[in-house]
Amino acid sequence: EEDASEPKKAKVEESCSTLEKTHAYGKLILFGEHFVVYKVPALVGAVAAYTDCSIEVEDNDTGIVEIVDNRPAVPNYKIKKAEEGKAAVDLVLNHFKIFGRGKKAKLTFGGNLCCASGIGASAAQVVALARAVKQTLPQFATLTEDEINAAGYEGEKGYHGTPSGIDNTAATFGGLLKFQRTDGEPIFEKKQLKEPIRIVYASTGITSSTIEVVDDVRAKKEADPAWFDALLKQYCDIVSKGEKVLEDGNMNELGKLIDENHKILQDLTVSCDELDTLVIAAREAGAIGAKMSGTGRGGLMLALTPTEEIQNAVAAALEKIAPQVWKTSFQ
Ligand code: MEV
Repeated sequence: EEDASEPKKAKVEESCSTLEKTHAYGKLILFGEHFVVYKVPALVGAVAAYTDCSIEVEDNDTGIVEIVDNRPAVPNYKIKKAEEGKAAVDLVLNHFKIFGRGKKAKLTFGGNLCCASGIGASAAQVVALARAVKQTLPQFATLTEDEINAAGYEGEKGYHGTPSGIDNTAATFGGLLKFQRTDGEPIFEKKQLKEPIRIVYASTGITSSTIEVVDDVRAKKEADPAWFDALLKQYCDIVSKGEKVLEDGNMNELGKLIDENHKILQDLTVSCDELDTLVIAAREAGAIGAKMSGTGRGGLMLALTPTEEIQNAVAAALEKIAPQVWKTSFQ
C-alpha cells in the first residue's frame, strides 16, 4: 500500500494545466501555519503535484462506498491517516447527500502528489472528490469553484476540528494565495509573482496529527494569552512585510522573513529537532531562507532557493539526511 520504493532523489514536480479534470493541488505554507487559525493573514503556495479522483457508480441496494487509494505516500502516512481520511470522505458525501441506500460507489484516488504530513494531502483528497462528484454526477454539473472549495472545507473537518480553510482553498484554486479566515467566508486573493519562486521541500518522515498539534497550540494559548499574543504580533509584522517583498520580487528579504517565521514557530513549540536539522542544513547548502511548513512536530520543511544551481545544491544536501526531498516552484 505504501510507496516505499521511492528512489531517495529529489523529485521534480511536473506541472499540469490548472483545474484540469479532478485535479486538486498540494500546498506549502510560506507564512502563517497555526496563526492562520486565529484569523490573521497567511501566504500559501500550491505545488504543481495533484491528487485526482474517479467515481464509478453501480445501481444496487448495498449502499456501499468502496475507496481505492492509489496515491503515492511516505511510509506510514496512509496507515496513520486511514480513519481521518475515511471520515473526511464521508463528510464530503454527506455534504452532497449522495450514495445512500440504492447505489454502490467506488472512489479511486490517485495522482502524483506524494502524501506526506504538511503538504495538504488531505485537502487535495477531498477537493479532488468534490471535483469528481461534479464531473460524474449530472445533478452536480453546475457546481462552482467556490462550491467545490466549500465541500473540501467540510471534508477537512474529518482531519482536524477547526480547519482554517487554507489547505482546501490552495487545493482548489492553485497559485500563490493570500488567505485569511474570518467569522464568515474566508477572504483570499491570488498574488501575481514577478517570476516563479524556486523551492525545495523535504519531509522528516514523521507523520503528525494536525488535530493534536492545533489543539495543543490552543491549550498553550489559553494557558498564557500574553505569550501567544506577543508571538502573534511578531508574526503579523512578518507576514505583512512578506507580502510586500513578494510583490517587489525581493527574494533576499523574503528569505530573511522566512527564517524569522521559523524562529517564531520554534517559540510556538511546533518545530522539532528533525525539522530544525533540515532547516539548518538547507541554509548551509545555500538556501536564502528555510522554515518548517504546515502542522509541524514532524511533517515538512521548505527552503527558498533562488537559482537552479542553489535549488540543486540544497536538494542534494537534504537528500543525504531527509527521507524524501522534492523540488517545486510557485508560479
Ligand atoms: C495545516 O496545513 C495548517 C494549520 O495552520 C491548520 C489550519 O490552518 O487549519 C496548522
